[in-house]
Amino acid sequence: MKPIRKAVFPVAGLGTRFLPATKAMPKEMLPVVDRPLIQHVVDEARQAGIEHFIFVTGRNKGVIEDHFDRQFELEVTLQERNRTNDLELLAQHLPGAGTASFTRQQEPLGLGHAVWCARELVGNEPFALLLPDVLVKHERGCLAQMIDAAQGLDRANVIAVEEVPMERIHSYGVVGVGAAKGKMFTVTEMVEKPPREKAPSNLIITGRYILQPEIFDILASQSRGAGNEIQLTDAMITLAKSQTFYGLKFAGESYDCGSKIGFLAANVAYALDRPDLAPALRAEIERLMG
Ligand code: G1P
Repeated sequence: MKPIRKAVFPVAGLGTRFLPATKAMPKEMLPVVDRPLIQHVVDEARQAGIEHFIFVTGRNKGVIEDHFDRQFELEVTLQERNRTNDLELLAQHLPGAGTASFTRQQEPLGLGHAVWCARELVGNEPFALLLPDVLVKHERGCLAQMIDAAQGLDRANVIAVEEVPMERIHSYGVVGVGAAKGKMFTVTEMVEKPPREKAPSNLIITGRYILQPEIFDILASQSRGAGNEIQLTDAMITLAKSQTFYGLKFAGESYDCGSKIGFLAANVAYALDRPDLAPALRAEIERLMG
């Protein structure tokens, strides 16, 4: 397979599940410990070798673009105060000049439409897609695990999958499981947000994809599906007629930060991993729990 150089981040969503926090601030800027959600996901992509970061944004999302730019006033002040560690931290997270692109999804027509908006920036090569609502906590990031697993495959599409309890299955895209292929399996079917009795398994699509560029031609004429939105899963079903889709049960714990509980759990889990915060946080949690 051609190397995966580009990653798409759909960040146009309105964040209605987090109002009023997201009234004036994009949900992707909510912090998990001290990094915005979008930064965690961009770092995962960078670890996987991604060279070009493509953000599909919307109105009121300008601060995401600012986050991935330099902030001179802040840098000068930090320099004057000899805050070298803080300056290094900022430099570490800054994308190289010309490696971040931003385009706008002008109307909220769904994930499939958001991905289609990136077609000119992606061009004719396979690409990664990372949904910033989902964080996967593991030393080797989820996307890197997918790229490792896809080595040697030709024109393959890969989706990260995980088990969820059947009571929650209707909130996700769900896959059917075929023959094993190394660490992966071939996907036999995909369905977006099925009622429990129609779900082909308890394995959901987790929000990390490697897709071939032919998906864009399909998305160009994709009609609306679940929730009256243009669904990526529906376009993937069409693409699966001519190309193989593989599922990878990744290593690591996922947090659905689009939900309040997932977001709060992510904050606790990531903070408990930080030597500078864990002892004090543990003591605080114990105190609160009585
Ligand atoms: C999207 C996808 C769905 C996937 C989910 C993961 O749904 O359409 O297939 O399982 O992300 O979080 P959304 O959360 O945008 O409704």
